[in-house]
Amino acid sequence: HFTNRLYVKDQVSSTQSIAKAFLSHHLVTAPTVFIADHQTAGYGRQGRSFYSPAATGLYFSMILPSPTDRPLQAGLMTTTFAVLIVGVLKQFFPAQDFQYKWVNDVYLDYKKVGGILTEAVVDLESRTTASLVVGIGLNITTKKFPLALKEKATGIAPADRNLLVSRLIEEIANNYSDYDNPQYLKKYRQASMILGQKVEVLVNGEVIAGTAKKIENDGALTISLADGKTKTFNSGEVVKVNF
Ligand code: BTN
Repeated sequence: HFTNRLYVKDQVSSTQSIAKAFLSHHLVTAPTVFIADHQTAGYGRQGRSFYSPAATGLYFSMILPSPTDRPLQAGLMTTTFAVLIVGVLKQFFPAQDFQYKWVNDVYLDYKKVGGILTEAVVDLESRTTASLVVGIGLNITTKKFPLALKEKATGIAPADRNLLVSRLIEEIANNYSDYDNPQYLKKYRQASMILGQKVEVLVNGEVIAGTAKKIENDGALTISLADGKTKTFNSGEVVKVNF
C-alpha cells in the first residue's frame, strides 16, 4: 500500500469538507490525506462542531477507495478505525487506558479525547461504497475547552504530533481493507466503555434508556429496556453512560 497524496495546511474550514470536495473532482485510487493544524469549522456526527484549536490536536481526513474486488461496508468501518487508532495511541501513551464509546468516540477516564466520522461516497450504478472519507480528530495536549465541553472532553498527553499522525495514517492505510477481520470487534468489545452500563441512546431525535448488552457482529448496539425487551441500533449515539 502507499499513500497517493498528502495535503498539509495550517488552517482550513474542515479537512472533511475539503476531502469530500476533492473527491468530487478527482478519481482517487489510493489513500489520500488532508491534515490541518487548525480548523475553523470542524464537524462531527449529528451536525455537531468539533473543537479544533491550533497546535494542540490532530485533525485529518483520509479518502479510502474501495478495493476493486470488495466494496467497503461503511457500517463496520468505524469500530475498525477506532481500534486501529487506539492501537497506535497505546504505543505512544502506554500508561493510558483508552476506551470506546459506541460508536465512534475514544475516551480516557470518562472524557472524550477523540472522535471519528465515517462518511461513505456511494457509486450510484452498483450501489456500493466507492470511497470512504474518514475524519479523525484527537485532543493531544488540548487543555482549555469551551464551557460546554469542559466536563466532557480532555487531552491525552504531550507527543510528537508529526510522528503520531504519520503512524496513524500508515496504520489505517495498511489495514483498512481488512476491516471485517473479527479481531477488531473483539478488541472493541474488550475496551467498550458502555457494555454492562446504563446508557441513553439518541436516535432520530428520540432518547432511549437501557442497559448496553452487546455490540453485534455488524457493529450495531443492543440494549435491554426496563420492560425486559431488547432494542438494537444501527445508528444513533450514546449520549449518557452510567448516569
Ligand atoms: C465526532 O466526534 O462525532 C467526530 C469528530 C470528527 C472530527 C474530525 S477532525 C478532522 C475531520 N474534519 C472535520 O471537520 N471533522 C473530522
